[in-house]
Amino acid sequence: EANTNCSIVIFGATGDLAKRKLFPSIYNLYRKGQLDSRFAVVGVARRGWTDESFRENVAASLRDSKMQVEGDLEDFLSHFRYLAFDVTNTASYQDLNTLLGEMEQQFDIPGNRMFYMAMAPEFFGTIASYLKSEGVKNEKGWNRLIIEKPFGRDLPSAQKLNEELRQAFAEDEIYRIDHYLGKEMVQNIEVIRFGNAIFESLWSNRYISNIQVTSSESLGVEDRGGYYDKSGALRDMLQNHMLQMVALLAMEPPIRLSTDEVRSEKIKALRSLRPMTEEEVAKYFVRGQYGPGTMGEKEVPGYRSEGNVPEDSRTETYVAGKLMIDNFRWAGVPFYVRTGKRMAEKSTKIVIQFKDLPMNLYDKADEKKQPNLLIIHIQPDEGISLVLNGKKMGTSGTATPVKLDYCNNCVDSLNTPEAYEKLLYDAIQGDGTNFTHWDEVALSWQFVDVISKAWTNNTNVDFPNYAAGSMGPQAADDLLAEDGFHWWPIA
Ligand code: BG6
Repeated sequence: EANTNCSIVIFGATGDLAKRKLFPSIYNLYRKGQLDSRFAVVGVARRGWTDESFRENVAASLRDSKMQVEGDLEDFLSHFRYLAFDVTNTASYQDLNTLLGEMEQQFDIPGNRMFYMAMAPEFFGTIASYLKSEGVKNEKGWNRLIIEKPFGRDLPSAQKLNEELRQAFAEDEIYRIDHYLGKEMVQNIEVIRFGNAIFESLWSNRYISNIQVTSSESLGVEDRGGYYDKSGALRDMLQNHMLQMVALLAMEPPIRLSTDEVRSEKIKALRSLRPMTEEEVAKYFVRGQYGPGTMGEKEVPGYRSEGNVPEDSRTETYVAGKLMIDNFRWAGVPFYVRTGKRMAEKSTKIVIQFKDLPMNLYDKADEKKQPNLLIIHIQPDEGISLVLNGKKMGTSGTATPVKLDYCNNCVDSLNTPEAYEKLLYDAIQGDGTNFTHWDEVALSWQFVDVISKAWTNNTNVDFPNYAAGSMGPQAADDLLAEDGFHWWPIA
């Protein structure tokens, strides 16, 4: 049985992620009894906060998340302590060890320690090695390290980070977060595929013509210009979230649902991505950057006028691409992906387009054929739609599209746990299935590095090339048109 009573140490406890996601998730787990009542949380950061100010911050985060906080708040907060910390000073780690020892005694915790890195990535490696050298990573219980993105900015830097981490923690002690893997409908991809005879039997190049994965955002870069301008959509979204969704769509059925089996199928799918040369990148990938535009009624500035963004920035805020998976199942089937900031709406969807029938009796020359579509709605609505053809009422010989909709969050929207809550729960249980294995990270960077090299070397871009509030640059439409396809509307 999983041994789940533990301490959680949050590095970066005064930061945004802790406040928006981690505290509310811990509270939910606590409320639902999914967190052992014997738990402790130590918030660690540079600022000189006290336990009181830290607890007040945690309480504020629950209020801000509009959570129903009940009479148990005081008890909940009593499990939280704060430690002002200098990540490069051994004394800080000794203080942390002492504090953890006290809390373990107070709450009857057998030494299980979860270290959550929710701060600037440049310190991940340093912290991990100090945790080991100063004995904070202890021998008594289990030790786990949760790592937030970005995991490097290219393959060499990711490798370096991984080596640093691996000197202190074993692969199965490292939990690399990709929060998309915590989303209900992303997890549902496997169930839809492997739990349904009607889909799995069609899931190949014999019946599928193309797959489209869209993750559009309506927000701009907000106050993250400094980070984002060095990252761009390719690193920020495609290398991780988009490729993870592709891997789940493309992988072979695992022999069982264990961490190792699922991950090894995903790794195989990522290994099958057709590599490109720098020269070929333009054939498969499109980049974009938003200019000024209107979002609803509101005029918004272009990317180059955002805070902390140079006015001649060549960073992409949009990327679309065509991925080919060169294996027996997928040969010839393009996987189109696109993601960007300041697009018409916030939406993540997967559209699986099936091939046309060999002969369509109901086709009229002047009417467009309607292929069958399976649409997986990831967010904001969660569900599945199936587009079929039915008889057009009152006519003969004419078909019309009909749509079967299943709305997941209409059924129990109140209970849909947040991605972070699920992932934290998994990590406490020691279940790494929905975290990315190092090999997945490495293969994703290997694929993406060619694209970023090509883009860095080719400075000839006509940015901005899409208006805020649109669905991206024309070139992204052309990418599909060349293959005789088009993007299916996301609304
Ligand atoms: C993060 C990116 O990983 O994912 C952000 O850094 C992006 O730039 C976010 O906005 C999108 O996540 P979600 O869950 O809102 O689709």
